[in-house]
Amino acid sequence: MPELRPSGLGAYFDQHPEVEIVIFAGKGGLGKTTSSSSLAWYASQVQGKRTLLFSTDPQASLSDIWEQNFFGKGEVEVLPNLYVVEIDADRRVAEYQASVKQKIKDMYGIDEVPREIEEYIDSTSAEPAMYESATYDAMAELVARKEYDLYIFDMPPFGHGVRMIAMADILSRWVEKITEARSKVAEYDAIAATLKGEKGHDDAVLQELLDIRNQITNFTDLITNRTRTAFFMVLIPEKMAILDTERALAMFQSLGMEMSGLVVNQVYPADLLDRPGTSEYLRNRVEMQQHYLKEIARKFGSRVQAIVPMFTREPKGAEMIEQAARALIECPIAVAY
Ligand SMILES: Nc1ncnc2c1ncn2[C@@H]1O[C@H](COP(=O)(O)OP(=O)(O)OP(=O)(O)O)[C@@H](O)[C@H]1O
Ligand SMILES: [Mg+2]
Repeated sequence: MPELRPSGLGAYFDQHPEVEIVIFAGKGGLGKTTSSSSLAWYASQVQGKRTLLFSTDPQASLSDIWEQNFFGKGEVEVLPNLYVVEIDADRRVAEYQASVKQKIKDMYGIDEVPREIEEYIDSTSAEPAMYESATYDAMAELVARKEYDLYIFDMPPFGHGVRMIAMADILSRWVEKITEARSKVAEYDAIAATLKGEKGHDDAVLQELLDIRNQITNFTDLITNRTRTAFFMVLIPEKMAILDTERALAMFQSLGMEMSGLVVNQVYPADLLDRPGTSEYLRNRVEMQQHYLKEIARKFGSRVQAIVPMFTREPKGAEMIEQAARALIECPIAVAY
């Protein structure tokens, strides 16, 4: 008989104390931000770890859930040991472009970047990879500073969030684009003369690109390191989420990675079926979920690390997050068929 007897995320972290980075992956709206915040609450308030909860979501969902504005404000302490940062990735892209332009001006001793080059640099922000790169770069930078015991990255739903792993490639392409911009400068007729005899300076931009690439490579090594990084996939007991989880697991396997566990969220209590007052409408939903929970048990079994109930209201604010955290960590729900 298939059964789900998840031990909760607490048991996972007891067994894996060396984990430094946690990433919740999964489709939009299933509970990544809620799970990230719950785990951050537990790690900081119960385990006493200095914890950084990080997001780049332009919809500022951490601000929403913690009922406080973090967007673009740097690291904000919300509770003792718990810091939240919401990166403004668009601003980061703009700052990066401005710094490339400034470097070009300094290097060639010009007051204005030639228009063709300026347009070229500006056009890079239209690339989706640029936005993702800025996100990744910001994460890499925070981790490189080594100021926290645990980093929890609340990812927006890019594909599965699993794309993170393939990000190094995307980033290398972006770095190449900037490198191209750099060689365009060299080609530009009007300043070609200025370039003569200034070869030494030219390498400053290249060096910076290489530094970025190194930081990215180190970070990619870290997030693909099974002992230091844990990936959890959040799903709900519905068909599409199950299919998506199967795809994500296959993708992980093909990359030689291991998913640390699955979190089944938004589960209606099964005993609603035994209560006479339960409406037909709700009864149907509970039955549908029970059907898919059986499928989850059959397909994923012991990979399920936690089952989190559907709360009667949205988990928002520190008190509700604590309640959601206790469910995720202790996991009082076991389902046997
Ligand atoms: N167990 C739960 N019970 C009740 N409501 C929940 C539960 N989990 C999440 N929610 C609500 O569902 C919505 C989506 O959750 P959340 O923001 O955590 O998802 P997400 O995966 O981060 O979404 P996105 O992909 O858009 O970032 C939120 O309004 C949240 O409050
Ligand atoms: Mg979210």
